[in-house]
Amino acid sequence: MKKTLIAAATIALMGLSAPSFAASDADLEKVGKKIYDRAFGRGCGACHDIATNPQLAALIKKGELDKAKFAKIVTEGKNGMPAALKEIMKIKPVVKAGLTEEEAIDAVYKFLSK
Ligand code: HEC
Repeated sequence: MKKTLIAAATIALMGLSAPSFAASDADLEKVGKKIYDRAFGRGCGACHDIATNPQLAALIKKGELDKAKFAKIVTEGKNGMPAALKEIMKIKPVVKAGLTEEEAIDAVYKFLSK
């Protein structure tokens, strides 16, 4: 009985100390899509699917928007672009996956790059 309890406790502890998100690219991409669809309640697309605003996926695919610039503007905002990182970190699938800020930015970037 005692042994069983110790074993159960050990397994529980291992679960807690596991890396935050042993994510495959496919998993990250899925969370990235949720971020794109849900940030600010209406999603990044509420602005970025409008032709006069930067077309993020197209810019990334053309090599005109690297991850460093993407991360900087998502974090700090720029003109009509609101700082988005705090909003992103509140999205449920991001919280659930235990993503760090860097991983969350990575996830949207991956989704837009595919
Ligand atoms: C309220 C509208 C709005 C929302 C919501 C919004 N954006 Fe933007 N975003 C803009 C506008 C406008 C610009 C252009 C800013 C400028 O260069 O003057 C921009 C620029 C950007 C850029 C820089 C593009 C470039 O090549 O210069 C990135 C990256 C970006 N947005 C990512 C995002 C992401 C990711 C989200 C969702 C988490 C998001 N945006 C949500 C309006 C928005």
